[in-house]
Formats: sequence, C-alpha cells, structure tokens
Amino acid sequence: MPKHRLFPSMIASDLAHLADQVAAVVAAGVDGLHFDVMDGNFVPNITLGPDFVRALRPLTNLPLDVHLMVTQPDVLIPDIVAAGASRVSVHPEIQGHLQRSLAHLRQLGVSPGVAINPATPPEDIRWVLDDVDYVLLMTVNPGFSGQEFIPAMPRKIAALSQMIAQAGRQVTIMVDGGVVPENIKELADLGADDFITGAGLFDHPPLGDRVRQYREALT
Ligand code: DX5
Ligand code: ZN
Repeated sequence: MPKHRLFPSMIASDLAHLADQVAAVVAAGVDGLHFDVMDGNFVPNITLGPDFVRALRPLTNLPLDVHLMVTQPDVLIPDIVAAGASRVSVHPEIQGHLQRSLAHLRQLGVSPGVAINPATPPEDIRWVLDDVDYVLLMTVNPGFSGQEFIPAMPRKIAALSQMIAQAGRQVTIMVDGGVVPENIKELADLGADDFITGAGLFDHPPLGDRVRQYREALT
C-alpha cells in the first residue's frame, strides 16, 4: 500500500460517461474511488446514492469510499454497505448519535470514518477516535467540487494530527477539497495521509499524467 493514497471524487468526473470515467481513473493508477452522497438538506446539492455505488461496484476491485453528506446517515448506511461500499464516513454536525452510527458501520464490516466540516474543531471528534479508521477533514465547505481550498486548513491538519498522536491512535487523515499537485506536499508534511481530488484531477487530462504529477509532488 502506498504511503499516501489518491481517491478521485467521482462527482467531478464526466457524469454522462461514468463507467468510462471509472475505467480511466483505474487505468491512471488511483488507489480508490470517492463518492459524495448529498441529500439537498445537509448540503445545498443532490448527487448520487446506493444505486450508483451498486452499479459501479463490479467495475473495479479498488476500495469505494463513500462520504455521506446527509442529515440521516442511519437511514442510508445499510443500503450503502449492501451496495458495496468499502469505507463510509459520516458527519458529526448533524447532531445525531455519531458513535452509534460509527459502531454500526464497523459491525457491518466496512471501514468507518468521521468527516468534519472546515469550521468544526478537531476536539469535537476526540471521543470517537476509537471508533474510526480515518478522519475525513474537509478543506472546502461540503456541497460542491471545484471550490477554493480554505487557507486556515493546513493548521487544522497539523492540530488534528497532533491530537491523534497524543491520543495514541492509529487513525488516517484524509483531506477532501481543493487538493492539487501544488499543495499536496505541504498537506502531507503536516500529517495528511490520503487525498481526495475532484476538479484538480478531472479538469486536467490526460488523467494518467495528472496522477503522476500528484505522486511526484509527494516525493
Ligand atoms: C465536496 C466533496 C468533495 C469534492 C472534492 O462536498 O466532499 O469530495 O467533490 O472536489 P474538489 O477536489 O474539486 O474540491
Ligand atoms: Zn467528499
């Protein structure tokens, strides 16, 4: 497994040719696929759901990482897992029963993650670090691909990384939003492990060359 992994955010791909886009990113050598599930309520946008994950699951053996930006994740979790998700992240900002949702994901056999909005302090997830394999740290506000990386977020990556180390936990930090070859090295040096990339990848074909640029920036 590479030290740093790249996950394309499929909502940023050419959605009229989704199967071709999956094949293209797999051929480009990414490490997994990221799916943004939005409900038009937690965020001002609606995207895809379990049926898309189910339809795309047979196209690759790579892990499918599902990011639930929905107010009622518990309603979707069983179906998302049954559809073939490998990893699923939920947000604490919905004020649900976060620990219960994360424990449920673990029980269903998928890798649980907690996703936090830019304004949410790392402290808010301190007491679920035992329940997750990864923290998805949002570096743009959730809802859309192609937004500007928020300048305060490198300091937040460092703070989160420090909190995880102090807690003595093995939790991966995954960065989501505005990741490009120009900033990826700085983020990795501050403690980020895995990276999601939407517009930064798909707006720069050919995808194989662009993935190489991300990897070279990390060396
Ligand atoms: C935003 C999503 C991200 C987004 C990333 O709500 O969670 O996954 O699609 O896209 P870029 O890399 O374009 O910011
Ligand atoms: Zn996402």
